[in-house]
Amino acid sequence: MRTASTSLRQRALRELVSQAHHPRGIVGRVVGWIFAHRHSNRRRNIWAVSLLDVRPTDRVLEIGFGPGIAIAELAARATRGHVFGVDHSLAMVRQATRRNAAAVRARRVRLTHASVERLPSFGEPLDAVLAVNSAGFWPDPVERLRELRRLLRPVGRIALVSQPRCPGATRDTTTRAAQELQDMLTQAGFVHLRVETLDLDPPAACVLADNPTGTPS
Ligand SMILES: C[S@@+](CC[C@H](N)C(=O)[O-])C[C@H]1O[C@@H](n2cnc3c(N)ncnc32)[C@H](O)[C@@H]1O
Repeated sequence: MRTASTSLRQRALRELVSQAHHPRGIVGRVVGWIFAHRHSNRRRNIWAVSLLDVRPTDRVLEIGFGPGIAIAELAARATRGHVFGVDHSLAMVRQATRRNAAAVRARRVRLTHASVERLPSFGEPLDAVLAVNSAGFWPDPVERLRELRRLLRPVGRIALVSQPRCPGATRDTTTRAAQELQDMLTQAGFVHLRVETLDLDPPAACVLADNPTGTPS
């Protein structure tokens, strides 16, 4: 028999997952604050950017930037390039815009309220794409990754990060999540896949891959 406290816990968990997927309202603002200040969140974002090998003139896109920790890191590296971001949560667009106000004003960073299913135009091809704990929420992720591949220049890079946040997640959960990301990237036509792991609890996995040199199908 389900006790009242079990069902309360399940409701709270469902609300938390829903807010991680799409932070909204007052709770969404608090969730964004936690994303921005939780030590492991900050570390995995800073680490992910360090793996992407961003050069000063790069044009980089982050999908699902949340409160904008990785956006700030990307902007610090792409000093003569451009950083784009899309997130379907208005609360996150506002937080990330405040966090990166100077770079947004200088037009080095452009943050758009949009979903990965309806990306805006970025003009010229991109050099790199990043998504941290976001791809797991995308509808039809392989199709989304194919679309992202078309936006990348040949040999452009992609990094997808997963740090599973489900209750009881372990190193095995991370390994399985990394395998899923690798399968999706392979199906979408990316090549030269490699996996890096950051020793958090549970660990974060970053799957890096390249766009092949040929014309995307
Ligand atoms: C778990 S949060 C991670 C935020 C940030 N990347 C981090 O690591 O702190 C997932 C983010 O992805 C965004 N997101 C989820 N599905 C999306 C979609 N279909 N299109 C755009 N953004 C999406 C959410 O709004 C949220 O900001």
